[in-house]
Amino acid sequence: MKAVIVGLGYVGLPLAQAAVRSGISIVGLDRSESVVDGLNSGVSHIGDLSDDEVKEMVSLGFHATRDSTVIGDADVVVICVPTPLNGAGEPDLNAVMAASRDIATHLHPDLTIVLESTTYPGTTEEVLQPIFEASGLAAGRDFFLAFSPERIDPGNKKFGISNTPKIVGGVNDVSTRKAADFYEHFVESVVLAKGTREAETAKLLENTYRHINIALVNELAQLCFAMGIDIWDVVALAKTKPFGFQSFSPSAGVGGHCIPIDPNYLAFKVRAELDKPFQFIELAEDINRGMPSYVAKRALKLLDRIGAGQSGTRRVTLLGVTYKPNISDRRESPADPLARALRAEGADVAFYDPFVDEWSVEGTSVPRYESLFEAISQSDLLVVVQAHTEFLENRDSIEGATRPVLDATGNFLGDNVERL
Ligand SMILES: NC(=O)c1ccc[n+]([C@@H]2O[C@H](COP(=O)([O-])OP(=O)(O)OC[C@H]3O[C@@H](n4cnc5c(N)ncnc54)[C@H](O)[C@@H]3O)[C@@H](O)[C@H]2O)c1
Repeated sequence: MKAVIVGLGYVGLPLAQAAVRSGISIVGLDRSESVVDGLNSGVSHIGDLSDDEVKEMVSLGFHATRDSTVIGDADVVVICVPTPLNGAGEPDLNAVMAASRDIATHLHPDLTIVLESTTYPGTTEEVLQPIFEASGLAAGRDFFLAFSPERIDPGNKKFGISNTPKIVGGVNDVSTRKAADFYEHFVESVVLAKGTREAETAKLLENTYRHINIALVNELAQLCFAMGIDIWDVVALAKTKPFGFQSFSPSAGVGGHCIPIDPNYLAFKVRAELDKPFQFIELAEDINRGMPSYVAKRALKLLDRIGAGQSGTRRVTLLGVTYKPNISDRRESPADPLARALRAEGADVAFYDPFVDEWSVEGTSVPRYESLFEAISQSDLLVVVQAHTEFLENRDSIEGATRPVLDATGNFLGDNVERL
C-alpha cells in the first residue's frame, strides 16, 4: 500500500510515522519548503516527534516533498492541513480546498481520499466531493472518499494513534471500508460511522463537550472565589464520584489549535443551515475567552495589595506560556491575552518557560528569565499559567518564595500563594 499524507504538522507527521512503521510506503506532501527540507534531513519541527524518530522514518522509506505528482502513484491520500478561523471568526477552508485541488489534478481510479482536518459537518460531501468529481470520476464508485477525525492529544504519553479508537465515515459503505482498511494497519480499533457527517460531527461534539465543561468550571471558579469557597477542593471532592461526573479544571483560559477553534465550526454550520445560534457554544466562548482578563485582574489586585516592588516596579512573571503543560506549542495560548491585559495596566511582563526560548506579544518581545530561580528572585509577582513538570518538581521554591504567587493551575499551596 502506498499513501500520501498531505500536511506534515502536529497531525500529519505522527500519522506518517505510525503508517510507515506499519510497513505502508509513505510520502509526505507539504507546501512548506522548510518543513520538507528539515524532515528529509532528519529534523523534526514538532515537539511530539524527536529528530531520531524522523531519522527512523526516513530509514523506513519516508520522504517529504512539495511535488503533488506523487499522488498519481498513491492508493490512499490523507489530508491533514490546517482549518483555522478567518478574520471574521468563521471557518477558513482555504488550505483544505487547495490540498483538494492538488489531489483532483492527480486523481485516478481506485484512489481512497480521507480528510482528517477538523471541520464542520458536510465539508467532505459539500466542499471536497465536487472538487474531486469535476474530474469526471464519481465518489464511492471510481474513487473513495471518507472523513476520519484526528483525536491526537499532543503530549499524552498514554494515548496515541494506535490505541485511540479511530472513527471512519465514508460517502458510502465501500468508501468507509477502504478508509478503514488503511487505518487498520496501525490502529487497534477502527469505529465505523454511518456517514461522513456523523464522523465530522462526532469530532466537534468531543471538542465542544470539553469547551463547555471547561467554561462551566471556569465560571464556577470565579463565583467560588467571590464566595470564599476553594474551587480546587470542590473539584477534588466531586471527582470522587465514580460515575456520572467527569472532572475539568479551572485555568487561565483555553488554548491550542482545537478547543478555542473547533466549536466555532459547529456554531457556524448551525447558523448557516438552521439560522439559529448554538447557545451553549456562544456562552462557553464568552466565559473561556474572558479568563485571561479575569486572571490579569486578580494578579493586579494582588500586586496592589502587596504594594509595588521596592523601587516602585510592577514586574509580573508568567510561569509557563504554552497552551498546556509540558509541550512547546503556543498556539492560541491564554498567556498572550493575559500578557496584553497586564501590560495595558502598566505591569512589566516577563516569563520563564523551559519549553519556550522566545516570545513576543503584539510585536514586542517579552523578556525571558534563564531559570525558574532567576524568575522567582527578580519578580514582584509570579503567575503560574501552566503546571510544567519543572515547576512541580521545584514546588518548594515556588511555595517558599518571598514573592506572592497567583496559581492558575491549582497545584501550589503556601502563605504566599493565592489560587484561582
Ligand atoms: N494539533 C492538534 O492537536 C490537532 C488535533 C486534532 C485535530 N487537528 C486538526 O488537524 C488539522 C491539522 O492540524 P495541525 O495541528 O497538524 O496543523 P499544522 O499547522 O501543525 O500543520 C499543517 C501542515 O500543513 C501544511 N499545509 C498547509 N496547507 C497545505 C497545502 N495546501 N498543501 C500541503 N500542505 C499544506 C503546512 O505547511 C503545515 O506543515 C487541523 O484541521 C486541526 O484542527 C489538530
